[in-house]
Amino acid sequence: MKKIIVLAILLSISYCSMQFINASSEGGTQKEFSNSLKITLNDDFQTLMRIDTIIGEVLVQFDLNTQITYFSSIECEDCLYFGDQKATRFNCLKEFSCVKSGTFQDVQISQDYIASGDLIDVRMVLDDVHFYLHGVYLIKSLYSNNQNPSKFAYQRIGLLLASESNQKYESQIFFSLYNQGKINKISYSLYYDEDLQNYQLTIPDYDSRLIPSRQSLFNLTLGWDGVFEYQKRYIFSGHLDFCGQQMLEKNTLNFYLDPSVNDHVFQIDESYFEDFNKFLIEHRREPDLSLFTVEQPGQWSQNQYFTLGIQIDIDQKGKLPKPKQFDVQFSSDQVMLYEGQGYYTINVNFIKDKFNFILGKRIFSKYLYYLYKDEQDQYKVALAPLQHKQQSLRKVQFI
Ligand SMILES: *[C@@H]1O[C@H](CO)[C@@H](O)[C@H](O)[C@H]1NC(C)=O
Ligand SMILES: *[C@@H]1O[C@H](CO)[C@@H](O)[C@H](O)[C@H]1NC(C)=O
Repeated sequence: MKKIIVLAILLSISYCSMQFINASSEGGTQKEFSNSLKITLNDDFQTLMRIDTIIGEVLVQFDLNTQITYFSSIECEDCLYFGDQKATRFNCLKEFSCVKSGTFQDVQISQDYIASGDLIDVRMVLDDVHFYLHGVYLIKSLYSNNQNPSKFAYQRIGLLLASESNQKYESQIFFSLYNQGKINKISYSLYYDEDLQNYQLTIPDYDSRLIPSRQSLFNLTLGWDGVFEYQKRYIFSGHLDFCGQQMLEKNTLNFYLDPSVNDHVFQIDESYFEDFNKFLIEHRREPDLSLFTVEQPGQWSQNQYFTLGIQIDIDQKGKLPKPKQFDVQFSSDQVMLYEGQGYYTINVNFIKDKFNFILGKRIFSKYLYYLYKDEQDQYKVALAPLQHKQQSLRKVQFI
């Protein structure tokens, strides 16, 4: 059987570097930015890649929280069963510099899927940089233990970089680029461009024009959650306030960041409902007599008082005295939605056992997210306010 062929993966981002320059041209130094890859991703943290001229462009899911990079083999019938009708599958052929280096069996590759297949090294082109990507999982068979699995994504590229003393979890894509001399250090930065409505990922480093200064990059206190083999998530700690009042229910809240999450509705653990309710009752007026329960957002005749704040703890290590927390305030028009006829509803879903507060686009559109290695060879996460949006978000509390 004549097989369909995969040559290389080409990102169609010729105009992305241009946007990057325009987006940050308002001020700052003209730092030369030659040895960086710039990748534009959509709202769901996916990007279109050219697989070859026959298959055309396909969507590739990127993921900050996994080490695993996988593609689907042309032999994978299960992939068709769990995936989209519009299948995009690979054939690993020597003629096109694809090399099989091993096999794998029953590896959990995502929340819902367990796969088997070959380990391959494949030639890729990313932002015009040619390199070999080692250790890609080429999936040949697939199953799910979940009764109702989410739709299978045919290809995913993992961007995880995490360390804990001697242990390290590092995605191959960074090592392949580094070992082949395409980048000079292992790090990346990410933010969401609200005007263009897409994510901008830069490997390595960050564009210094995007933030006020190096000093505005604050390290976060890191914990991480490595319950699953396929996924490690950074957990940040902090607090939540409503209308400037500290929530009483829980003193600390755990956050994690995931750019593939659309957080236009706040999702908060059900146990916080009483705190919200208390405040809302105090401010209730004559027209606000509708039911307000966990399931029912209620109707309010005003919105001006309702704000939500998130304070993310800043790592206090190092010399300079530094702010204790980032204070990210969401204004009343983000917290309350206008429903027409003079009424607002609260833009919060109260969810059972939602132990972590997920921050997605909202945080990436206000802050530059920078993941790097410190002097002790440990991975760190830092946030810095994005320069052009600085006015509305810089309100930092000092100790
Ligand atoms: C970016 O700048 C270039 C050159 O000044 C211009 O041609 C282009 O239209 C700009 N793009 C955007 C998205 O503003
Ligand atoms: C963040 O951590 C790095 C590495 O330990 C350190 O050099 C830097 O000063 C820290 N930044 C701040 C703002 O504390």
